[in-house]
This record gives sequence, structure tokens and C-alpha cells, in this order.
Amino acid sequence: MDEPGKKIYLIGFMGSGKTTLGRKLASELDWTFIDLDNIIEERTGMRIPEIFSSKGEPWFRIAESEALRSLLGEEKVVISTGGGTPCSDDNMKFMAETGLTIYLKMSPDQLYRRLAGSQEERPLLKGHGTDDLPRYIEKKLDEREKWYSMASVTTGGEECTVSQLLTQIKDWIQK
Ligand code: S3P
Repeated sequence: MDEPGKKIYLIGFMGSGKTTLGRKLASELDWTFIDLDNIIEERTGMRIPEIFSSKGEPWFRIAESEALRSLLGEEKVVISTGGGTPCSDDNMKFMAETGLTIYLKMSPDQLYRRLAGSQEERPLLKGHGTDDLPRYIEKKLDEREKWYSMASVTTGGEECTVSQLLTQIKDWIQK
């Protein structure tokens, strides 16, 4: 079998900075940046909140897994995944087998500060008011940690820079 092209998958909770760091990382490496949510939106012709409200979460998860697998042939790409991507359909295993998985870890407090006010664009957070959002984030993060912690590299936090990340992954890049 041909080697699949080199790929970096950024994983982590909503609001952990996957898209921002992913763009910077791709630009440093001179690779292509791909946002998995954008791929799903392009293919379905719907925005993510609309997919959740009209089709439901199970439908979204299937579209998400298909979109992820459709990128297999891509070469030198940094892929920013959705917060729930690693947690369904053996997706974590698929990513570990086809690229380098990097977990951008943030504390529930940091995530809360970054996510408060973004409920409209994030269907899973819709309906969680200021008083119950911290608890929801903590619980969901705790549930997801078992997948996130399978990543090959863990980094993150608000101070995480691309140059630090590049130092962490330079051996893999050079392989
Ligand atoms: C989701 C995260 C979102 C998006 C969808 C579901 C999740 O992506 O895929 O709203 O299950 O955590 P971001 O992590 O980029 O916000």
C-alpha cells in the first residue's frame, strides 16, 4: 500500500485554539491548512448549527467521519478537527494510523472564558446559560479526555506558540 501523505491532526475541545494554531503551523511548515468543519459545510451546503438543528447530531457525526476519511490522500496538510471528532467511529484510531495527532489541552476555566458568548455558533453549547456552562464544559471535557489523551503529542494552553510546537514535533517532521 502507498504511504498516506503526511498529515497533522489537531484535536481538542471547542475553543482550544485548533484553528488559530493550525493555520500558523501550516504556514510555518508551508503545508496546507484544512478545517474539517469547513469541509463538512462545503459538502453539505449547510452551516454546522443548521446541520445540528435540521439533521441532528448522529447525522453530523456520520458526515464528520466521512469527511475525515476523505482527506486520506492529502499530502502535507494540517487538519483542524471538530471537538467531537476523536470521540466517535474509531476516528482517533484512524487519525493515529494516518498522521500525527496533537492534543491542544486547556483547563475547563480557560475553555469557559474562551467559549462564553459563542453559544450561537456552537450547537452543543446552545441552551447552556452562564451559570451552567462551566459545569457542562467540565463534564464534557472529562468524558472526552479518554480519547484526547491518546494523542501522540499533548501541548496547548493559551501561551502555546508555534515555535514551541515545532520543537516538540521536529523529529516526526523530519522522518
Ligand atoms: C463540536 C465542535 C465543533 C463542531 C460541532 C461539534 C463538538 O467544532 O464540529 O459544533 O462536538 O465538540 P470546534 O471544536 O471547531 O468548535
